[in-house]
Amino acid sequence: MRAVVCTRYGPPEVLVLEEVPTPVPRKNEVRIRILATAVTSSDCYTRGLNLSLAYRIMARLVLGWNAPRQPVLGMVLSGEVDAVGPDVRTFDVGDRVFGFNRHRFGTYAQYVCWPEDGFLATRPPNLTDEEAVTIPYGGLLALSFLRKADVRAGQSILVFGASGAVGTSAVQLARHLGARVTGVCSTANVELVTSLGAERVVDYTVGDFTEGTERYDLIFDAVGKRKSAAALRDCRQVLAPGGACISVDDGTPSLRREDLVLLGELAAKGEIRPVIDRTYPMDDIVEAHRYVDTGHKRGNVVITVP
Ligand SMILES: NC(=O)c1ccc[n+]([C@@H]2O[C@H](COP(=O)([O-])OP(=O)(O)OC[C@H]3O[C@@H](n4cnc5c(N)ncnc54)[C@H](OP(=O)(O)O)[C@@H]3O)[C@@H](O)[C@H]2O)c1
Repeated sequence: MRAVVCTRYGPPEVLVLEEVPTPVPRKNEVRIRILATAVTSSDCYTRGLNLSLAYRIMARLVLGWNAPRQPVLGMVLSGEVDAVGPDVRTFDVGDRVFGFNRHRFGTYAQYVCWPEDGFLATRPPNLTDEEAVTIPYGGLLALSFLRKADVRAGQSILVFGASGAVGTSAVQLARHLGARVTGVCSTANVELVTSLGAERVVDYTVGDFTEGTERYDLIFDAVGKRKSAAALRDCRQVLAPGGACISVDDGTPSLRREDLVLLGELAAKGEIRPVIDRTYPMDDIVEAHRYVDTGHKRGNVVITVP
């Protein structure tokens, strides 16, 4: 099969299209013919290891010292089950699925084998593969943090970095939970964030949310800028009594398989919608990584797999 191989850690050019053996499912695994994947910010961190020295060493120990031990990156997919192991009970050949796997990677390829009890669910029937693949990454991360913060109806929530993959999901999910949402983004994304359900939008290029009169039950840094964004350093002054300021970079989120099913149901009902910035064919993966490396994508960058 064709796959994108990460030959070493470095710039986007370390990604190379190659022929690799097609995987064969083990007894509890399904093989998925991948029709769409996405370039997530995590993929770019894994490829480039643009981290502090301590984190870089830790990442190399976990992922592989000179290059990723699993050389085919990619965490999300949408596609079709095309083979099942002998013990598989949940899925059949021909099922349309979407999913996420933060440990195994392997979705920058035509096929991947995943355990049937992993983060794999029936693809929402109203979504294309390109649309469905945008749901798991931002959705699972945002949902885990909103749940941890116990977001409830009527609360006032601020999503900082409301236009990224996690941010666009957080705005929509907080709104779904009944919260009043304020989004922080740049001028170009004000319309998008409003359309996702934010009641108010603060354009960070012209204003500072800490100067407003609104008091927030939760301030969620959805883009990992707590150390660099001055407004986030001062965020405590605009918290309501008992409010909290959390970041998507606060530790390892506990993700739940049933949340993937929930996200699929919400997408099927139109309660959350896919946000696609750009779509590239797998042959243009280097270009796609260059774009995500800018740190300014809107929502998701999708890769179509031939
Ligand atoms: N804890 C974990 O295990 C874990 C796992 C995965 C990811 N993460 C974290 O999650 C973060 C977010 O991931 P993502 O995929 O959602 O990112 P993303 O989609 O790449 O974020 C891009 C968005 O961030 C916005 N942005 C950039 N600089 C900003 C700033 N100074 N202020 C406000 N918005 C800004 C951009 O909008 P503009 O163009 O308008 O600036 C753009 O729309 C990652 O960077 C990582 O730190 C954590």
